[in-house]
Amino acid sequence: MSRSVVVLGIQWGDEGKGKVVDLLTEDCAAVVRFQGGHNAGHTLVIDGQKTVLHLVPSGILRDSVQCLIGSGVVVSPDALIGELQTLEQAGITARDRLVISPGCPVILSSHIALDQARERARGSDAIGTTGRGIGPAYEDKVARRGIRLGELGNVDTCSERVEELVEYHNFLLTQRFGAEPVDVSECVSRIPAWRDRLSPMMGDVSGMLEAYSNAKSNVLFEGAQGALLDIDHGTYPFVTSSNTIAGAAASGGGTGPLAFDAVIGVIKAYATRVGAGPFPTELHETVGAHLAERGNEFGATTGRPRRCGWFDAVLARRACWLNSASGLCVTKLDVLDGLSELAICVGYRRGGEVLDDPPWDSAGLAECEPIYEYLPGWVERTGSVRRLEALPAAARTYLDRLEELLGVPVDIISTGPDRDDTMVLRDPFQ
Ligand code: IMP
Repeated sequence: MSRSVVVLGIQWGDEGKGKVVDLLTEDCAAVVRFQGGHNAGHTLVIDGQKTVLHLVPSGILRDSVQCLIGSGVVVSPDALIGELQTLEQAGITARDRLVISPGCPVILSSHIALDQARERARGSDAIGTTGRGIGPAYEDKVARRGIRLGELGNVDTCSERVEELVEYHNFLLTQRFGAEPVDVSECVSRIPAWRDRLSPMMGDVSGMLEAYSNAKSNVLFEGAQGALLDIDHGTYPFVTSSNTIAGAAASGGGTGPLAFDAVIGVIKAYATRVGAGPFPTELHETVGAHLAERGNEFGATTGRPRRCGWFDAVLARRACWLNSASGLCVTKLDVLDGLSELAICVGYRRGGEVLDDPPWDSAGLAECEPIYEYLPGWVERTGSVRRLEALPAAARTYLDRLEELLGVPVDIISTGPDRDDTMVLRDPFQ
């Protein structure tokens, strides 16, 4: 029996999804990216060798897996071509196994300039974007003036459209933000090279998904960022510009909402966030430093240090229902090794009120004080433990409590960066 499974982050991204996707693709025909762009950074470690992917789906390290980029993804041709080159230098031929939807909006250098100019203009209210042009590219898509990848095929028409769009961006850059304009002719001059490199890889992703379904093949939908960065349901405006939740796998991949058999919500055993925005369980003292150091919490895309804190079950519970999460994958459990006591946020206090669910807005969330439940930590090493029974009793109690609080079973536990440092208690493809 074939299965379609969505794997996505339940927190603010950086949960370690790439590793899990890579692991689960063993029995898959295809892996699909459905939203975001090269703001994502998915780190894979196989036999000690590290690969960081930004746009190419995390199935690329398996020779038999087809990698698809659906039209919900915004594509920087320069970033994609660069990533393919890096993969090829590492001996991974991606071109033959990558199909990109011609409907993907294109990120131009003027989108990047606008993203960065907007952030500078926001000053202390900056969102802390990755500066990759993601927001402006989605804005243009929704405003129906964006360029789509398939348009590269007609260089003349595409050049006119790019020229017009970059001139509009330059108006904003110079008149609104007092920034330098982007070189229009330089943008236009890249089109033929982009067409030559990318056109051979374009194809009907939606049609392929239908064919996989008819052929009863397993397909994995790979989320980027995390549910709390969702444009509609996250901590707006401190969010990314796409829908990151499971519903977007259908619209952004190019299939229907009944296509999925399971949704694996990936959670880190604690919480991290890059960029600005409310983070009720953030830790600033020694425990936060322990998590940052042991968890090597630096952004895979920007290298920025990640903010660290205790696991927030209030936000995660909401994210589970927003995604219809059917199973959890807990990552980085080993980072908690050596802490004498652990805390999980089980509610908020705001003013005189106790809240079981988060407020609707970021300003409200910023006013919330976490209510913690404390659990004993463990001194034993859980890194690379590969059997549930071999985990310290306190670690199992911690996992049981997460499962209970979120109302979703723990299906997978990751205890280290390597593909093999994983316990699959229930395989979502079985
Ligand atoms: P943007 O997606 O570059 O517009 O950034 C918007 C917010 O999402 C910022 O807080 C970023 O730090 C965050 N963000 C974007 N991509 C990722 C990711 O892959 N992991 C974690 N945070 C991300």
